[in-house]
Amino acid sequence: MNQIPNDKEFFLFQQLIFQRLGIHLPVQKKALLSNRLWKRLQACQMERFEEYYRFIISPQGREELNKALELITTNETYFFREPKHFDYLRDELLPHCRRGETFRVWSAAASTGEEPYSIAMVLRDRCPTEWELLCSDVNATVIGHARTGIYPEMRTRSIPEGYLRRFCRKGIGPEAGNIRVVAELRERVDFFTLNLHQEYADIGQFDLIFLRNVLIYFENETKQKVLERIAGKLKPDGVLFVGHSESLHGITERFVPVRPAIYRRAK
Ligand SMILES: C[S@@+](CC[C@H](N)C(=O)[O-])C[C@H]1O[C@@H](n2cnc3c(N)ncnc32)[C@H](O)[C@@H]1O
Repeated sequence: MNQIPNDKEFFLFQQLIFQRLGIHLPVQKKALLSNRLWKRLQACQMERFEEYYRFIISPQGREELNKALELITTNETYFFREPKHFDYLRDELLPHCRRGETFRVWSAAASTGEEPYSIAMVLRDRCPTEWELLCSDVNATVIGHARTGIYPEMRTRSIPEGYLRRFCRKGIGPEAGNIRVVAELRERVDFFTLNLHQEYADIGQFDLIFLRNVLIYFENETKQKVLERIAGKLKPDGVLFVGHSESLHGITERFVPVRPAIYRRAK
């Protein structure tokens, strides 16, 4: 049976998770914390959350701290999730790409890669100019998975039939039951780890940023800081996609709404 952290223990983890990831874990999530970390306590032969906490904040526990933080992130995603964004990219943005310029896109909380590969399929199919696609997440394990481009076949049902045939190959032998995104697309995506909650390296400015289903884990003050940095990464008329359950209303004036979950950088 999982142990549930007591109030003091929960508070220690809550602070640590906020400090490192910007993620706010409300006190109602005690059971979630326990479900995600209990196996790690057992692997470290520890019985108390406080003991595990002391270990992961010590210099010897650095590797374990990364494991714990990765387990805290929620990585749910799927191909062509929230399809209206892909329609908007295809029908409203790509036809207006400026000749001679590279159309730059960043998938900024990309999880296991379904989102950036969905973008890559549309770009490869419809982008009339050169394009570049960057893909990042704070979780190095999911980025490692994304790089492989391998997914269970049953997770590819939301890929349009034509794209599935053109951009995915069925696995054989030990890979039976999986598909792999073709090398032509995999090699076009630049994968790296990046923490949206900290200052990050100069990765240039983008025509389009996907920042979907990650703001929900942040409180308003963190959202403001994250969005301030994101605004600086958009070209003057660049576009931002957020998840359909996320709104920037009352949080920042750096963006103007265009459609639900679609914003343009304010002038
Ligand atoms: C629910 S997934 C969303 C995946 C994809 N964008 C989508 O909408 O399907 C949220 C992702 O945000 C990432 N994440 C959480 N905190 C982050 C942070 N501080 N910096 C960068 N990524 C973060 C998680 O690791 C996770 O993969």
